Amino acid sequence: MEIKPGIHWIGAIDWNLRDFHGYVTQRGSTYNSYLILDEKKVVVDTVKKHLAKEWLANIERLVDFDQIDYIVSNHVEMDHSGSLPVLMELAPQAKIITSVHGERGLKRHYKKEWDFKTVQSNSSMNIGKRTLTFVHTAMVHWPDNMVTYIAEDKLLLPNDAFGQHIAHSQRFDNDVGWDIIREEAAKYYANIVLPYGLQVQKAIEALGTLDIDMIAPSHGQIWRTYIPKLLEEYHKWANNICQDKALVVYDTMWGSTEKMAHAIKDGLIEAKIPTTVRSLKHSHHSDIMTDVLDSKLLIFGSPTINNGMLPSMGGFLTYLKGLKPQNRVGFAFGSYGWGGQATGQIEEEMKTLKWEVPIPSVRHQYIPDDEELINIKNTAMKLAESIK
Ligand code: FEO
Repeated sequence: MEIKPGIHWIGAIDWNLRDFHGYVTQRGSTYNSYLILDEKKVVVDTVKKHLAKEWLANIERLVDFDQIDYIVSNHVEMDHSGSLPVLMELAPQAKIITSVHGERGLKRHYKKEWDFKTVQSNSSMNIGKRTLTFVHTAMVHWPDNMVTYIAEDKLLLPNDAFGQHIAHSQRFDNDVGWDIIREEAAKYYANIVLPYGLQVQKAIEALGTLDIDMIAPSHGQIWRTYIPKLLEEYHKWANNICQDKALVVYDTMWGSTEKMAHAIKDGLIEAKIPTTVRSLKHSHHSDIMTDVLDSKLLIFGSPTINNGMLPSMGGFLTYLKGLKPQNRVGFAFGSYGWGGQATGQIEEEMKTLKWEVPIPSVRHQYIPDDEELINIKNTAMKLAESIK
């Protein structure tokens, strides 16, 4: 598909992808690769290895392999470099354009002495009617990441940044509509980019000076209609600007912690705080992270088992801590029989993340009675006040 005159999408659609290194991709994904036909013929990024055949067919329809001058590798991760070896077999004359970290990473992955040309940030390369400019975006989300910008076409090829895991037969943002693309862009940010807010802010600053009317990332749909709305969302996410919303995440053994979770939810709703309740038995941690992204108040509950929290809560907190959501208000709760260590442990994790914890954790022995449930509902209403 020609996305700009002389610039073609040549990627592959992974309709069946449902797990992207532990992240549930309910809508599948794409690996977007682009071919620029100018005086020089340039391939930008490749696709995951198992889809190499259809990708090579896309290239071959447009150009002979021995005519390819450059392959730009914006990012080493194998969903974008996995088909590089097979293309290099067919186009051994091609020079690989990448960052210093990119060259190092590609050599570690493929153990090949290909013809590399490393590029500095903000350096440019003329390919005929166009000039490619490379901007390094280290740690968004690997050290090697860079973006490619084509001023003549007002086109940004940012690789992972601004991606979404969506498999669709049409290529543009308005083909799926704002609600779906926003949801998937948020999930992608929450599960992949969230720890790198400072780097994202710097990258957005560096890109802010560029004239852009199309953003073609390496996953999902190409942005052309919703670019201002997308940048507004990225600004909020990168700065940990949340909404006055609450998220209650819990697991339960015999239903007591669940009763507490629902009493808390009732208090929050009474205090007019939009609230989502997520049971760890029924929701995947990657979906819960999408709720974490814009919820100011994060409330986590677990009963105590063997002097600690349930493994489901332990696993969720391990995942969440790695993604480092900041600027949140936390509260922990749970039932216990004896010991009762889980709530304190959850609260400690919240403090490690530097969240505000205005109200100490609450635990109830065995089964909370009606009065205790009313008390915890009232506690939730106080928590609601703390974020208003
Ligand atoms: Fe889409 Fe970092 O790979």
